[in-house]
Amino acid sequence: MILNSVFEQYQDELKEVEKELIKIFESEATLIPTIGSYIVNSGGKRIRPLFLLLSADLVGYTEYKRVILAAVIEALHTASLLHDDVVDEAEIRRGKKSANKIWGNQVVVLLGDYLYAKALHLSVLQESLPIMEALSWATSQMAEGEILQLMKAGDPSITFEEYIKIITGKTAGLITAACRIAGLLAQLPEEKIQALTDFGHNIGIAFQMTDDILDYTADEITLGKKLGKDLMEGKITLPLIELLKRGEEKAEIIEIIKSEDFSEKNLSKIFFYIKKYNCINASLQIAKTYIENAKKALMLFPSSPYRQILFQIADYILERKR
Ligand code: IPE
Ligand code: IPE
Ligand code: MG
Ligand code: MG
Repeated sequence: MILNSVFEQYQDELKEVEKELIKIFESEATLIPTIGSYIVNSGGKRIRPLFLLLSADLVGYTEYKRVILAAVIEALHTASLLHDDVVDEAEIRRGKKSANKIWGNQVVVLLGDYLYAKALHLSVLQESLPIMEALSWATSQMAEGEILQLMKAGDPSITFEEYIKIITGKTAGLITAACRIAGLLAQLPEEKIQALTDFGHNIGIAFQMTDDILDYTADEITLGKKLGKDLMEGKITLPLIELLKRGEEKAEIIEIIKSEDFSEKNLSKIFFYIKKYNCINASLQIAKTYIENAKKALMLFPSSPYRQILFQIADYILERKR
């Protein structure tokens, strides 16, 4: 698979990123490195660091700072997962027991705080105001997106625009920062920094859309997370928004959502309708438009092997199984 070969190509540098990531967890409070190494060693695709490194190669920035910033991005992502799993009461992450299940909510929330702060501190040490700006902005956007999502949970009148707002905040913001930072490191002209920013933004939206699709369609073992969780938490994501648009049984679906009764029977009803109305395919088509926009943004850069790889990873997002 194309993606495997890309990851192989970046394997050594991603190892460096992981080393920097482990350093972020260094602390005398030993629970911090303990939980840290549990999370870092449980895998994770490292797609955000990869986007940063690839974007840096696209623009010819090769210095070590890119490794440190890729680690900062992954640390922020890790912090968001720790908090997200507490909020979502998740039991499985990356195919293993989630940290909150093992160590409890209290320490995991605090570890998330620690990681956010430590990652931003490390970014300050890089002495670039625009980079700090990008990272701190993404961090506040993530929290805002998650809060917006909570506010909209269980509300079947959620609009597509509101959904986009939520996923832009909780997911696209950080991927945007990853790509933008490459442009900032290389001190590109504003127009090109903007192109990388637009690329990351569109990729990020599509990435969360496919995450939301996978919550309905994936193989649990491959995904490493439990299926159907979004629905059970009352999260109305793209496939369900599509269903609410076209399902003749709309009233029945709304009633299920409002009743908060996500028994086996009701869940399988919704899964059945999602299939009946081809909502997965419709959702994928929407995600595809964002992938196309992401690719368009990159057309500002001359054709190169790195641009080609970025295009391929963009396509992979639509096909991913985990
Ligand atoms: C999961 O992100 C959370 C989302 C924003 C969709 P990833 O799918 O990148 O998770 P890991 O890092 O590979 O586990
Ligand atoms: C993404 O939302 C969460 C973050 C950006 C932290 P989800 O709640 O869908 O993520 P998963 O599915 O648990 O990984
Ligand atoms: Mg979650
Ligand atoms: Mg999800």
